[in-house]
Amino acid sequence: MKVLVIGSGAREHAICWRLASSRSVSQVFCAPGNPGIASVATCLPSNVSAVDELLAIAVDRGVDLTVVGPEAALAAGIVDAFEAKGLRIVGPSQVAAQLETSKSFAKEVMVAAGVPTAAYHVFKTREEVEAFCATRGSPLVLKADGLASGKGVFVIQNNTEFSDAIEMLFGSLRASRVVVEEFLEGVEVSCIFACNGDDAIPLAPAHDYKRLADNDEGPNTGGMGSVCPTPRISEADLEWIRVNCALPIVETMKARGTPFKGFLYAGLMVDSRLPREQGIKVLEYNTRLGDPECQSIMVRLVSEPVELYEWMSGARAEAPSLQWSKSVATCVVIASDGYPEAPRRGDQITGLELAALVPNTVVFHASTLQAENSKILSGGGRTLSVVGVATSVEEARALAYKSVDVIQLRGRRVRRDIGL
Ligand code: AMP
Ligand code: GLY
Repeated sequence: MKVLVIGSGAREHAICWRLASSRSVSQVFCAPGNPGIASVATCLPSNVSAVDELLAIAVDRGVDLTVVGPEAALAAGIVDAFEAKGLRIVGPSQVAAQLETSKSFAKEVMVAAGVPTAAYHVFKTREEVEAFCATRGSPLVLKADGLASGKGVFVIQNNTEFSDAIEMLFGSLRASRVVVEEFLEGVEVSCIFACNGDDAIPLAPAHDYKRLADNDEGPNTGGMGSVCPTPRISEADLEWIRVNCALPIVETMKARGTPFKGFLYAGLMVDSRLPREQGIKVLEYNTRLGDPECQSIMVRLVSEPVELYEWMSGARAEAPSLQWSKSVATCVVIASDGYPEAPRRGDQITGLELAALVPNTVVFHASTLQAENSKILSGGGRTLSVVGVATSVEEARALAYKSVDVIQLRGRRVRRDIGL
């Protein structure tokens, strides 16, 4: 079987890496891929939102199944276009992907489905937001309605932060709608469910580290590290989350005539001081695998990934039973100097050959560039994801940092507290 993966990040490197060791896969293509992905897949230049171009690649190369990584491709309607041509693809339709691309749509579906989530209001103008927030005071959370690459969410603790957020939302982000949300306390957990339109199967639960600096300080980022399985929830919690936060969405989307197929990522806030029914709430849905959660999830997946993807795409009726290794995986992200505000690009990365010698670790490439003389340069932003796998989180993090520490990139940004 020939499989095409859409995307170019460390998430897609992990997806390709796992597919490359699958017995049923004869060839893995990745569009556009990156220099690291090129070691496990055939990379084909393209843009993840250029649906017609990607369709032509799938047809020309005789691809049997396509797996979509990033939300931009889903928002561009790649799944609708592939399915209209009878091609198998893993991911939600453009309409169903609004669970991620529109915060207000997601909230509307959550309320219809009876999913526990923060109380919220939606406003269209700056004046409306200001008037409403004046009656509430902080803390509260403001969110731009559309996709904003992680830059559209503001957790407000005081008046200065409120004014800054309003400037951004109605200034550079040009938000036409703003969601104002109750502030939730607790720790975050990422539960990702594989869905086929009717049912939801949980992947191993993970958590990521969204802030740039240790101790959850600094600006929000795409994610600076992850741990799988997360010790923050139990197996019983995961089943409760499946029944209360995933299945109701699948059922509601089906009843609306827009079934949800693909990965449903529930970003949850868990307050362990409260009983489960009050202590677990959905912060957001994403409609894809998380990055960097995927990197620490994929290295633990023992069962055949193709069976899962086929079930998700509708090609297989029987639900797969997923098996996970007993190990713990920790993923540490190496980002370039200046990330996330003004990432530097073009600096050379060295030490990758030494890192490859550290046992039980894998280095996944994200934003890297191939230069002459087989030099690898940083493309700016999140550059590499280094995963350590071991029987305990302590060992897994020790391995990941051993590998991280032999890699060099000038001015790089790395959190030292992943897995603590
Ligand atoms: P989102 O993109 O909606 O997940 O928001 C990004 C980040 O903002 C989350 O990962 C949380 O760290 C934080 N956040 C979002 N909503 C809330 C909330 N209601 N209460 C507390 N923190 C929040
Ligand atoms: N790690 C969070 C995300 O993928 O959105």
